[in-house]
Amino acid sequence: MTACKSRHFHYKPCDAFCQDADLDYVLLIGTQAKKARISLNLPARLIRAQNTMTGNELRSKYLQFFESKDSLVIPSGSLIPSDPTTLLTSAGMQPLVPYFKGEEAPPKSRLASCQKCCRADDIEQVGVTWRHASFFEMLGNFSFGDYFKREAIVWGWEFLTKTLGIDPAVLWVSVYHEDLEAPEIWRRDVGLSDERIYRFGKKDNWWGPVGKSGPCGPDSEIFFDRGAKYDTGDPELDRPGGDGDRYGEIWNLVFQQYNQQENGELLPLPAPGIDTGMGLERTAAILQGVDTIHHTDLFAPIVNAIVHIKNLPSTLQEGGPETELPFIITPYRLHPQNPTTWPIRVIADHIRAAVFLGADGIVPGNNGRDYMMRRFIRRAFLMGRNLGYRKPFLHRIVPVIARSYGDIYPEVSQSATNIAQLIKREEKRFESTLTDGMDRLEYLMEGLEESREILPGDEAFRLYETYGFPLELTREILSKEGIGIDEEGYQRAAEAHSKVSGAAVGEYEKSIFGAAETRFLGYETTRTEAQLLEFQPEGGNFVVLLDQTPFYAESGGQIGDQGEIIGADFKARVLDTKKNGKAWIHTVEMLEGAPKNGPVTAIVDVERRHAIERAHSATHLLHAALRLHLGDHVQQRGSLVAPDRLRFDFVHNAPLSDEENRLVEDTVNQEILRSLPVEIEQKTLAEAKAMGAMALFGEKYGDIVRTVKMGDFSLELCGGTHLPNTSSTGLCRIISEGGVSANIRRIEAYTGTLALTHDRETQTRLRTAAQILGTQPDNIVGATEKMRARVKELERQLQQAQQKVASASAEDLLSGAVEINGVKLLATRAPQGLNTDALRNLADQLAQKSNGVVVLGADNDGKVLWAVKASPDAIKAGAHAGNLVRELAKTTGGGGGGRPDFAQAGGKDASKIDDALKQAADVLESQIK
Ligand code: SER
Repeated sequence: MTACKSRHFHYKPCDAFCQDADLDYVLLIGTQAKKARISLNLPARLIRAQNTMTGNELRSKYLQFFESKDSLVIPSGSLIPSDPTTLLTSAGMQPLVPYFKGEEAPPKSRLASCQKCCRADDIEQVGVTWRHASFFEMLGNFSFGDYFKREAIVWGWEFLTKTLGIDPAVLWVSVYHEDLEAPEIWRRDVGLSDERIYRFGKKDNWWGPVGKSGPCGPDSEIFFDRGAKYDTGDPELDRPGGDGDRYGEIWNLVFQQYNQQENGELLPLPAPGIDTGMGLERTAAILQGVDTIHHTDLFAPIVNAIVHIKNLPSTLQEGGPETELPFIITPYRLHPQNPTTWPIRVIADHIRAAVFLGADGIVPGNNGRDYMMRRFIRRAFLMGRNLGYRKPFLHRIVPVIARSYGDIYPEVSQSATNIAQLIKREEKRFESTLTDGMDRLEYLMEGLEESREILPGDEAFRLYETYGFPLELTREILSKEGIGIDEEGYQRAAEAHSKVSGAAVGEYEKSIFGAAETRFLGYETTRTEAQLLEFQPEGGNFVVLLDQTPFYAESGGQIGDQGEIIGADFKARVLDTKKNGKAWIHTVEMLEGAPKNGPVTAIVDVERRHAIERAHSATHLLHAALRLHLGDHVQQRGSLVAPDRLRFDFVHNAPLSDEENRLVEDTVNQEILRSLPVEIEQKTLAEAKAMGAMALFGEKYGDIVRTVKMGDFSLELCGGTHLPNTSSTGLCRIISEGGVSANIRRIEAYTGTLALTHDRETQTRLRTAAQILGTQPDNIVGATEKMRARVKELERQLQQAQQKVASASAEDLLSGAVEINGVKLLATRAPQGLNTDALRNLADQLAQKSNGVVVLGADNDGKVLWAVKASPDAIKAGAHAGNLVRELAKTTGGGGGGRPDFAQAGGKDASKIDDALKQAADVLESQIK
């Protein structure tokens, strides 16, 4: 019972429910409610049993309803949008933009979906308001030139009032003030009285586009009156469309009519359409009559897991106490304004978001989406401190989320183990620096509070760089104390850092030939006649623009071609080829004459191109082999394809074992030997997806994409050039495997001639080493082991000999002892060559003989070693070996300390040993006083 009372959250049926006077009530949801009520034997005053629907029921009811209106139900798209200019999918219509724009035909003119959405814009509102979420599900119905306003409104009303059974008296709507049609439909076809229809301007009742351009139009919103208890007293807040808690917006019906251009111009869409969005969590909260979305059954298992984290199994296996829950108990004390519970709601939100991001292949990192995942995890981890959780705990909630959502989103359950590992590593990483970081931040804040200054940008960057505090987190912590950050200074510090660490890659001069277009012929040929259109001097060379070219310009990891451009009276060597927009830029070195506009012959260095293609085709094989042996979570994160040399970065969170490395290399070579034809085709993105092509990210819907297929083994979208057949790769050798960051691995490999040369060089080195060891290459391992053992033995003998010499000189050394206030001090240089153990032994011997303090300084190949020993009598008199050694080490540029009777330390500056030895007497004297 105490355990229950301590937090007011209840997890298992227990007596505490009956007696805990602090408890408002227990909410039981769904068909189990009655059963639960009986088995719990709860007093009626503590029960609010809801026979309303669960979140899952709401989701299926919605989709079924629109299926009955002849819509095709499509699965949720990925959280990673196909439009590369947006970071994450944040609206249900986002994957459908090409259908609205008429760039692609939808599978049916009426669709319905439940789309995963994520955004971090309102992250600070999460857990503060009743409705904000970073990750949420959006229910939507869509029409592309099919039904329009009337059906959208009438069906929306039918679903709310008939299917969900909401009392029409609590529903209100708003429309765009210039839209005369929508209010008319609300009045005439729905029967809503005029005072229930609000009219607002663009800010409230115009939706879209996502990003800078795309579909948009006027909309009509539906609000639910949650009751007077949520009134604030401010009429601006307490009205439909106001920011207060009373009227909750549950559904937005967008009448998509325009395609907004980047310059703001509104062009009509090919056909007007419908896009509606209903937040699943909000609507569930309203139906279940709970205070916040985090009180719904959708969050209940997650919240329970957070509160009872100690009861969760520490391993990631299936099962665990939370699955034994016979029904859902929402801990009702999660009050929105209760400062002890909002961290729970934030954690519940962020861990769910992180899991869904992980399920779509995102990993915690420093950029873009990866950074968002890192931020969710770190912010949640920090919140955990409010609950007394200081050790990694978030990863233990992953299986709970996987069980809750796995049926609907199989990607979550499939990758749960991997996600939990990712999250655990990220937690550990942050944990290791968090305390120091918080100390540092608090220290900085103390100074700033007094002077009311802002935090210097380089300090904020240091918090990020050294302690892993995302800028936003620092900003948030500081803002609570009214302190700002010099954000420009932060950017400057970040840029300076990336320059120093070499991360900033020199951007190619964007202005060169920017508007021009080059026809690329390099897929078909490596030699062509062309017109030289423009040229410019550049750093001793020239850059040259042709009307058409066979030169491949660097992209997708594949480096640019080299070769020659030959004109009537000049000859130039092409050093590199890059792309600027649609213009191909050839950097050339003049071999003869000077560049001139007019006809030229452009010839690619074919040998080099083939070597690049060997590496490129091998990269595809490697990617497929990694997925085969490590799992489908392996995703490409960057690559370099150069002549016979490749570098491949991919998502995976552990080093590859020797066995895995070998398996992967063997598989790649097997597929080379199978002599698979490499077939390249042009497809629409939809066709490519249907074929199961990998690496769709970054491609735009409506794009024509190139699919590169290697027999039955690999299929990728790729713009690069390839071999006609895998066998031309010759051989692929993995040269190295290592980590790039926590979750990204890097493999480097050679192909073709380079692989061969590399192997031969290895052989040669082996033979030479064998010769030196006087053995055959086959015996080299045994011979090396033998030699090592011999070296060890010789070192041991040498130490013994040195020790003997040192002991013999002990008497000599002792004659140099002096007396400091009745304590004998021997401070002297040790004989050359003693290691730490030998030094210690000598100090022991001398101390026994002198019954005082012995200080030995040794110059060990330029490095300083100290050993200080104090006898019991000396300690009684006040001597302290540890403190003494610290002072001496300091003088010789080092540090250390230790016990009163014995201590060792090191230093860097051997030239100061004598100074330090002289100092010993003073230090000892001060101790004995
Ligand atoms: N696109 C609108 C929204 O996201 C309706 O689906 O709110």
